[in-house]
Amino acid sequence: MKITVAIDGHSSCGKSTMAKELARQLSYVYVDTGAMYRAVTLYALRHGMMDDTTKQIDQDALKQQIGNIRITQVVNAEGKVETFLNGECVEGEIRQMRVSSCVSPIAALGFVRQHLVSCQQAMGKDGGVVMDGRDIGTVVFPDAQLKVFVTASDEVRAQRRLAELRSNGDRDITFDEVLQNVRERDYIDSHREVSPLRKADDARLLDNSDLTIAQQNEILLSWAREKIQ
Ligand code: DC
Repeated sequence: MKITVAIDGHSSCGKSTMAKELARQLSYVYVDTGAMYRAVTLYALRHGMMDDTTKQIDQDALKQQIGNIRITQVVNAEGKVETFLNGECVEGEIRQMRVSSCVSPIAALGFVRQHLVSCQQAMGKDGGVVMDGRDIGTVVFPDAQLKVFVTASDEVRAQRRLAELRSNGDRDITFDEVLQNVRERDYIDSHREVSPLRKADDARLLDNSDLTIAQQNEILLSWAREKIQ
């Protein structure tokens, strides 16, 4: 039997790393829903529907266009997931700071969420999918056979994010700045009106503060195997 696995959790807690690995182990499809919100943000920025300084959004224009935004994801030859926006690979661009700093207000719009949630439900309708995001176990697949809510302490997440930023060449940023950003994003994600981040009542909690990547992958795989059998 092919099950649906919903993985939600805080930002920078390594959930996409573990979700991708689980999908690989099970030969399931992996869907990165954060990338979908990022792709819509890029579309809005490119088409002059969002100002990256003021963060003002032309909601009417975006609402009119939302049905024309097609997002797909494929796994490339190296096993990396790539996101396509209307047929163009935008994987690099959606990870850049310009998109990262504009995605929260876009992800808070009800009509954007409605559109992406129905795309995600269509992508996972046959099961055999590992989907990661913030509302997968609560909204997208409330009946998923396995729901996991991933977290780690603020400090551990800030440390991981700092290492990632440093490895991407950002030498000036301090630990305290990153910690503040992690806490701010948690607050925004958990307090927005539409689909706030929360643990589904029937989700298993996975705190990976003191786990290695191998250990967390092993736990997740054992939970999935329990459900598959
Ligand atoms: O996981 P990420 O950092 O790539 O997510 C980008 C943004 O999209 C982040 O602000 C949270 C939001 N998001 C969401 O609201 N719902 C999801 N299912 C996935 C991401």
